[in-house]
Amino acid sequence: MDLSELQNAKKVSLGEIAAAVDAAAVEALRVRYVGRNGSIPALIKAMKDVPKEERPAFGKAVQEWKAEFEAALQAKAAAVSSVEGKADFDLTQPGRWRSIGLKHPLTRVIEETAAIFGKLGFTVADGPELETKFNNFTALNTPAHHPSMDRSDTFWFSDDCLLRTQTSPVQIRTMLSSKPPIRVICPGRTYRRDTTDATHSANFHQIEGLYVDEYPQKSVSLADLKSVLAYFAREMMGEGVKVRFRPHFFPFTEPSVEVDFSCHVCKGKGCRVCKQSGWIEVAGAGMVDPRVFRHVGYDPEKVSGYAFGFGVERIAMIKYGIPDIRWLYENDTRFLAQLG
Ligand code: DAH
Repeated sequence: MDLSELQNAKKVSLGEIAAAVDAAAVEALRVRYVGRNGSIPALIKAMKDVPKEERPAFGKAVQEWKAEFEAALQAKAAAVSSVEGKADFDLTQPGRWRSIGLKHPLTRVIEETAAIFGKLGFTVADGPELETKFNNFTALNTPAHHPSMDRSDTFWFSDDCLLRTQTSPVQIRTMLSSKPPIRVICPGRTYRRDTTDATHSANFHQIEGLYVDEYPQKSVSLADLKSVLAYFAREMMGEGVKVRFRPHFFPFTEPSVEVDFSCHVCKGKGCRVCKQSGWIEVAGAGMVDPRVFRHVGYDPEKVSGYAFGFGVERIAMIKYGIPDIRWLYENDTRFLAQLG
């Protein structure tokens, strides 16, 4: 064998290691090349037949081959054993614990809300975040001079297209596409041109609710609204939470109310969380305005209904005692893990 034949043989042997797929193949290569009667020891033994002048270069090449071959073989042996090890590992060993993460507090509030209203016969409706002026404003009886129509309050894409400022347009979509009785909640993202601080965010979440039924057979009242929200409050915040309505104004409801829950921290006595008032504002609500019914082609003489809209962040912050809304968006796992 001369020097170039040797380089060739080395290349072949390294290729064979690369192609080996299991421990048996690796062992066979070891025996064939570096075992007691292997080809590399044979070459070393045959060194004395190599012409004296070529001996140093030849000897060096053989040693290099042996070193490279053994290193490659060792690496391959480790690789195949880690694959094969899986097939015969100890089945009696305890399993390895793997963290699978937690649901985000906003997701949890939305899912819990859907479950609570689900027990009352409400289903979940969905709508797009990019809305028309009609669905977000006009059909909700919001006049052109209303501040929320302003460019400084709302993200407009064109004269007719905007990022919805509320989940209320899903009410319109639902009524346009179906007939009473309607019982839906509609969770989703909403957008306003707010500067973000501890209690405001330009992008936040709401859960809308709508119940419409035939009048007068199944007349819907403000008392129905209050009982449903009181039930929701207890299920979400725990027994003993009270609900209070305060008169308010929304273009799409008449009468309109703002809804407060009694503070679950101080049980209504007054503390820092409720700013000493004993109450926390959580939603807007009211009886669906006849003008809204007309916009979707319902006869206000033949239907009645209530609607409400919650801030999801609001509920999450109260429920989990989160002081700063921005924590909900930072995805800092140290914070999220604490709520697990
Ligand atoms: N859309 C209102 C808001 O963004 C909340 C609201 C109030 C929704 C009254 C309603 C409602 O459905 O009836 O502040």
